[in-house]
Amino acid sequence: RAARHKARIYSLNREAARFFHRCLKSPAGASGYEYLKDRGLSDATITTYGLGFAPDSWDSLREFLRSKGYTQEEMLDAAVVSRSSKGHVYDKFRNRVIFPIIDLKGSVVGFGGRVLDDSKPKYLNTDDTPVFKKSRNLFSLNFAKGKTNGRLILAEGYMDVISIYAAGFENVVATLGTALTEEQARLMSKYAEEVVIAYDSDGPGQAATHRAINLLGAAGLSVKVLRMEGAKDPDEYIKTFGAKRFEILLNHASDMIAYELAQVKSRVDMKTDMGKIEYVKRCAYILSEIDDPLSREVYAATVAREAGIPAETVMTQLSAVLSKKR
Ligand code: CTP
Ligand code: MN
Ligand code: MN
Ligand code: MN
Ligand code: MN
Repeated sequence: RAARHKARIYSLNREAARFFHRCLKSPAGASGYEYLKDRGLSDATITTYGLGFAPDSWDSLREFLRSKGYTQEEMLDAAVVSRSSKGHVYDKFRNRVIFPIIDLKGSVVGFGGRVLDDSKPKYLNTDDTPVFKKSRNLFSLNFAKGKTNGRLILAEGYMDVISIYAAGFENVVATLGTALTEEQARLMSKYAEEVVIAYDSDGPGQAATHRAINLLGAAGLSVKVLRMEGAKDPDEYIKTFGAKRFEILLNHASDMIAYELAQVKSRVDMKTDMGKIEYVKRCAYILSEIDDPLSREVYAATVAREAGIPAETVMTQLSAVLSKKR
């Protein structure tokens, strides 16, 4: 019975995706289509990702699904409709462009919907359902899985993935705003040995990068971090500087230690002695986390060079941290 119910939700989702996609291409979806065009998406990309539009209506999807024989309970279970406190059931996605979320078997399991302006919330996502667990899913892994060559790019959002994909890098996935989970890290390790983190360059993106480095490392993945300047996320970067420059960034992604050391450097004032001392002290902690003594020494030399002090001084500081830990 549970299996049959799930099968109904899969087929309901498929019908909903088709409905949204048809809307995008109809006069009723002109504003959504124009929005995606303005953001630089080609018709080919729109088709590949099956993008759609949810009309500005409380019941158009509900009525469509009803005509296809789906019950209200099934719509609620698929989470494409919501129930108000007064008991009214209404379409969850209204006046939004729609990003279908597709699992590894190619089934539509959920949707993301973005507003066309600056109103809030910017994105709505399908809640967990019998066929969708957000913490276990990676957007676009259905496309990336056969194309990794051992390497996955990890981005934050729908538009980043789609832009990176359209720029020619099909090995890209996103966590969709949620903090990366252990399950997602493990999932990536099934398809790649290396992950290049390409999160947003803002504060939240940096914090998420720090977390992801640890989780991906713990899953046995080799981790690199893309360092973007002049753009807040990969989508914006590619739009501003082009695919070629993005490829150069990819090829120059920092290993995770270099990234963390650079992060420390960017947060202190290296023009002052106090800043340099702070830099060396904080870096010593990062170095103390490295198991391999040779690697520790190599990075210590980098830190010394940056601070303009002898490598021995950094090693002394590092020994102090290490002995405190023991
Ligand atoms: N997100 C979400 N709900 C929000 C904001 C963000 O689920 N209210 C998720 C979306 O998956 C989004 C990702 O977090 O793609 C990254 O968020 P953000 O950087 O704010 O959005 P962008 O992807 O850059 O969106 P856009 O370029 O369309 O503004
Ligand atoms: Mn974010
Ligand atoms: Mn962001
Ligand atoms: Mn963006
Ligand atoms: Mn962003």
